[in-house]
Amino acid sequence: MMQRLLPWLKPLVFLGSNPITLVGAVLTTSTALTMIGAFVIEASRERPLHPYAGIAFFIILPSLFVLGLLLIPIGLIRRRRQLRAKGELPTEYPAVDLRQGALKRGLLMVGAMTLVNVALLSAATYQGVSYMDSTEFCGQSCHSVMAPEYAAFKNSVHSRVGCVECHIGPGAGWFVRSKLSGTRQLFAVALKTYSRPIPSPVKHLRPARETCEHCHWPQKFHGDKVVVRTKYSPDEQNTPLSTVLVLKVGGHGGASGTGIHGRHLDDTERITYIATDDKRQVIPWVSYVADDGKTVEYVSTESKATPQDLAQGERRQMDCMDCHNRPSHTFELPERAVDEAMALGRISPRLPFAKKKAVELLRTEYPDQATASRRIAEGFAEFYRTTYPDLYRKDRSLVEQAAQQVNAIYARNVFPQMNVGWGTYPNNIGHEDFVGCFRCHDEVHQASDGRTISQSCDACHTILAQDENDPKILADLGLK
Ligand code: HEC
Ligand code: HEC
Ligand code: HEC
Ligand code: HEC
Ligand code: HEC
Repeated sequence: MMQRLLPWLKPLVFLGSNPITLVGAVLTTSTALTMIGAFVIEASRERPLHPYAGIAFFIILPSLFVLGLLLIPIGLIRRRRQLRAKGELPTEYPAVDLRQGALKRGLLMVGAMTLVNVALLSAATYQGVSYMDSTEFCGQSCHSVMAPEYAAFKNSVHSRVGCVECHIGPGAGWFVRSKLSGTRQLFAVALKTYSRPIPSPVKHLRPARETCEHCHWPQKFHGDKVVVRTKYSPDEQNTPLSTVLVLKVGGHGGASGTGIHGRHLDDTERITYIATDDKRQVIPWVSYVADDGKTVEYVSTESKATPQDLAQGERRQMDCMDCHNRPSHTFELPERAVDEAMALGRISPRLPFAKKKAVELLRTEYPDQATASRRIAEGFAEFYRTTYPDLYRKDRSLVEQAAQQVNAIYARNVFPQMNVGWGTYPNNIGHEDFVGCFRCHDEVHQASDGRTISQSCDACHTILAQDENDPKILADLGLK
């Protein structure tokens, strides 16, 4: 074996002792070692790396690797030419002997340089990657593209959860996939070929089982959840009207029977559906595995979908995201956002017509956020200055604070540069603002025996009060 290699090795070692080839060798080995190291670390990490780390793994490191590979023969050929020109090319290459001083020193040099290089490259890669891992990077580096998602995210319960936890999740399997798509997205941003708004649902979002369920255990869902919503009327007093619901959010069994979560989710498949539009809002076909293990198919009797539409539609097993499609990018509607700000006292309910005026200003169309900000502040001040001059003089700070809050609502929900406006992204929880639950729960999805998917008002919640001014139940519950 050695005998057969030697004729090759001798000229390689002899010609290879030139700076270009040596630099090439150092570059190739050190990038290779860094890439292998990074892959092992990623594979064993609990938290995933950011997709744009793909820039390091698919572009920068491999480029250096290939550059190193190219430098090796370039150096060899150059040196051969130089020697031949000088007539110094030996007819017999000297024997390869590790004890030979020059060769040993050369190899030691290459080894040492490789180590130094691995350290440098790893440090640089690590720095770059931990920066890309941060929510600031995801949300802000391509500012106008991600601005809507980032703004809504900061305003959500998940504002401390990293983008990567939901969008990539842990494990080596999704490493290459996410890095590749991250790299593709980067080009889309650089070339401005991305769509506005960014389409939703995300086609290849990782299944909820592997992301949400790291923190939320479906087996743990139980009991009911009391929800109190206060709406303010568009009258001079901003009359508050409260709705009190007991939502049956439980899982399987339990005192109150199987709840919302238990009905749709299980360790095995429970519900599969076909959507015929790309926003998953039109669902003509649903299959359900009942408690007794039998499968029931519900088909909408009002849908015009043909068998061919069904075959071409998206078939999907229901998971968290089919209801909680806005867990983090929770865009609001103007009425609800103003109600909430008023309930929290950020927009004072003492300001006459505050609800009406705020919603009116929010619903107006503006060319961009800067103009909106100016015109909303002016509009609000103008209204109180002319209609309620006394109040404006005495309580000017209240008016200004309210205007600021209305501005903030606009700024986190409407992004003219991305074509994101009120209601661009439907929220599937509930049924008041968007179709939501009623995509299936409409009494026209029928099984062969005539059963339908229920729209009975107490299937999902008990309504304790609806749009009442100061309902007694709030006092009874000790919530007032
Ligand atoms: C709690 C989980 C969660 C977190 C944290 C999260 N997202 Fe999302 N994201 C989602 C879900 C769920 C969707 C919509 C999925 C669907 O409907 O298919 C989504 C959709 C998106 C979309 C597509 C457009 C849209 O609004 O539907 C973008 C872009 C996006 N997220 C960016 C981000 C960025 C940037 C961050 C961090 C600042 C982030 N996400 C953090 C869960 C999350
Ligand atoms: C890294 C952990 C983590 C991940 C991943 C995560 N969540 Fe959460 N989630 C939380 C925390 C923390 C809260 C806040 C609990 C609280 O404030 O009581 C929360 C709250 C919620 C709430 C309650 C919202 C409310 O208004 O009370 C919902 C619904 C929810 N998460 C759904 C999801 C969904 C759907 C996903 C997957 C797309 C997901 N979560 C992924 C940690 C996580
Ligand atoms: C059939 C629709 C549906 C599915 C599927 C679903 N949820 Fe929910 N979930 C709801 C509704 C409705 C609520 C109550 C909404 C509210 O608080 O306004 C809720 C509430 C929650 C809450 C808050 C509970 C509380 O007591 O405050 C969390 C956390 C949550 N869901 C997580 C999840 C996770 C994780 C999954 C997937 C394993 C999931 N949900 C699947 C409909 C669903
Ligand atoms: C993809 C279709 C689909 C969507 C969307 C959907 N459901 Fe369901 N839901 C079903 C099916 C199918 C059943 C089981 C019907 C049966 O009992 O045969 C069911 C049953 C239920 C039940 C039990 C009803 C009963 O009488 O026992 C509740 C509660 C429920 N869903 C709540 C919700 C809520 C809340 C939402 C919205 C957040 C929602 N569902 C969205 C398909 C859906
Ligand atoms: C399939 C389940 C389901 C059915 C059936 C259902 N609801 Fe609801 N409803 C919900 C959920 C979930 C919410 C909470 C949404 C949220 O948290 O914003 C809700 C919220 C509400 C609210 C409060 C809305 C608000 O402004 O916040 C009212 C009022 C209401 N439902 C009335 C009804 C009436 C009336 C019926 C009968 C026609 C009905 N619901 C049937 C699931 C259902």
